[in-house]
Amino acid sequence: GTTLGASAAEKGRYFGAAVAAHRLSDSQYVTILDREFNSVVAENEMKWDATEPQQGVFTFGNGDRIVNHARSRGMSVRGHTLLWHAQQPGWAQNLSGGALRNAAINHVTRVASYYRGRIHSWDVVNEAFADGGNGARRDSNLQRTGNDWIDAAFRAARAADPGARLCYNDYNTDGINAKSTAVYNMVRDFKARGVPIDCVGFQSHLGTTLPGDYQANLQRFADLGVEVQITELDVAQGANQANIYAAVTRACLAVARCTGITVWGIRDSDSWRDDNPLLFDANGTRKPAYTATLDALNAG
Ligand code: G3I
Repeated sequence: GTTLGASAAEKGRYFGAAVAAHRLSDSQYVTILDREFNSVVAENEMKWDATEPQQGVFTFGNGDRIVNHARSRGMSVRGHTLLWHAQQPGWAQNLSGGALRNAAINHVTRVASYYRGRIHSWDVVNEAFADGGNGARRDSNLQRTGNDWIDAAFRAARAADPGARLCYNDYNTDGINAKSTAVYNMVRDFKARGVPIDCVGFQSHLGTTLPGDYQANLQRFADLGVEVQITELDVAQGANQANIYAAVTRACLAVARCTGITVWGIRDSDSWRDDNPLLFDANGTRKPAYTATLDALNAG
């Protein structure tokens, strides 16, 4: 193939980008999006603060802009994210206990129901594990409602949209380490107990090195019977950037259940990071990292 999306499709994968609704009026941005990608995720527009700014009042306008742009062009859509400790509306930050649990599950139900049939994969829960060596859950208002809040979220999401693949998504889980092993143990437990989970997202916000066991880590999750997806890929600019993009791409292609890669933005100037971590420069020109990724998709 001659584009990321077409080349990934030849390998039975998608290649997506995080999109910001306010950039859909930028013609250079949209030209690249429509040419190169066959999947999108909303960078912020489907988060709790965006979709339920007041309790029980739902706003889907910006999410809809992204979903409609994608679906009218045959792109699939990742949903990000139903529950997260960050980017909660103020009213939810001020709840706790049963009131928060009920509000959170209602949020999952309402948002997943609204988008039912239009979402390929939902990040049902994002970033629920702590960094560091002990493999613990992250402390948050949601965690303080009880350790079973993740089970409840996945069950509610399944009931609301039985066709969507339900993912757990996190960062610093890209190699085999205490945090990724804690996620692994949760997924294994969910499969054993029948909690509905279909996929694990590896954000892959990377610096100047890639863990040597990156592919092995994806594979051990796949061996639990879940899909794996690279969900927020970006890589620090530097001598290794192109090589790391290529290695991540090869790792996904080498794992049968790795179904797609999403980069967290299009041009460096669209990124949340300031170290030029994406595949296109601020002028929309393809970088060496782009060529390395495309070549990796087309190899073999
Ligand atoms: O919407 C307000 C706008 O009204 C206001 O004028 C403006 C002023 O700064 O802020 C806007 O909100 C910003 C929002 O992005 C939308 O642009 C927030 O300040 C800003 O904090 C927020 O950052 C996002 C961040 O998540 C929040 O945690 C980034 O764009 C987004 O790329 C980033 O994405 C996360 C994933 O969801 C989860 N994984 C990590 C990843 C990177 O942090």
